[in-house]
Amino acid sequence: MTTATTPPADRPAGHGPANAPLKRLFLHNRSLPTARTVRAIEELEDGWIRPKVADLTARTPALSSRADWIEALDALLAEEAKGTGTGRYLAEKASRAEFTSVVRQFALDGLTEAQNFFPAVPRLPIRAQMAVMRVLIDEFGCGNLQQAHSRLYLDLLGELGLPQHLDAFIDTTTEETYAFLDVFYWLTQRAPTVEYFLGALAYLEASIPQAFTVQAEACRRLGVTNSRYYTEHLHIDTFHRQEMQLAIREYDAAHGLDATKVWIGALLLSDLIGTAFDTAVTRARAEVTR
Ligand SMILES: [Fe+2]
Ligand SMILES: [Fe+2]
Repeated sequence: MTTATTPPADRPAGHGPANAPLKRLFLHNRSLPTARTVRAIEELEDGWIRPKVADLTARTPALSSRADWIEALDALLAEEAKGTGTGRYLAEKASRAEFTSVVRQFALDGLTEAQNFFPAVPRLPIRAQMAVMRVLIDEFGCGNLQQAHSRLYLDLLGELGLPQHLDAFIDTTTEETYAFLDVFYWLTQRAPTVEYFLGALAYLEASIPQAFTVQAEACRRLGVTNSRYYTEHLHIDTFHRQEMQLAIREYDAAHGLDATKVWIGALLLSDLIGTAFDTAVTRARAEVTR
């Protein structure tokens, strides 16, 4: 599997929205972090994620405790468990070509899964580090390539006749998906406090066992046999959800917790992953009927 992308300066213009700032940001995030690269990253983030978080902060009522955060997250997950029109379409009606288009749209995520979480580790107290490391070890198949989540995604891509190299997806990935990818580079490396990351990953791990029932059902209905990427997450993320709550509890014990920042991280991820998924399904339908 290719694990690095070609630096922006060496790449042809490609397709996608004019300028495609979030695609450029992804490529910078995966390049050698020279002073020039980091300056370019900060400029792109200044025009995107910083105002987005400031806006979310201005609109979000403050939470006062970890108990408030758990209650708010449970309410958000209960709301999301009702499902969406795009989710129902993918599970119940999408053709194999439409499903393949959605799998292609999330390939950069599947193929780089969890790689961009590591810079958060040294920012955490040691007991929270242990919980996050237990999650990361699972993401990398406990050191067994055949179980690594990125390998499971390659197996899925292979069955659907899609490329096996990261670079093949750079020019077909939407800005909405790039937003979901790029946010973790900011959360782990440049967010002013790591509580945003803890909330974001806690939300993601907690939401996936429900969210991936859509793709698992689509695979079953369409006879896609390499569905383990999805079914493994239905199982393992129920444990990752607990580990992330443990990491937050340990952060609270060591430093005291700003529950509002944890909650804002969760709201940010919910917005970005929801938008990326809706866009992927809408685009798949438009592409296939064109
Ligand atoms: Fe995973
Ligand atoms: Fe996970």
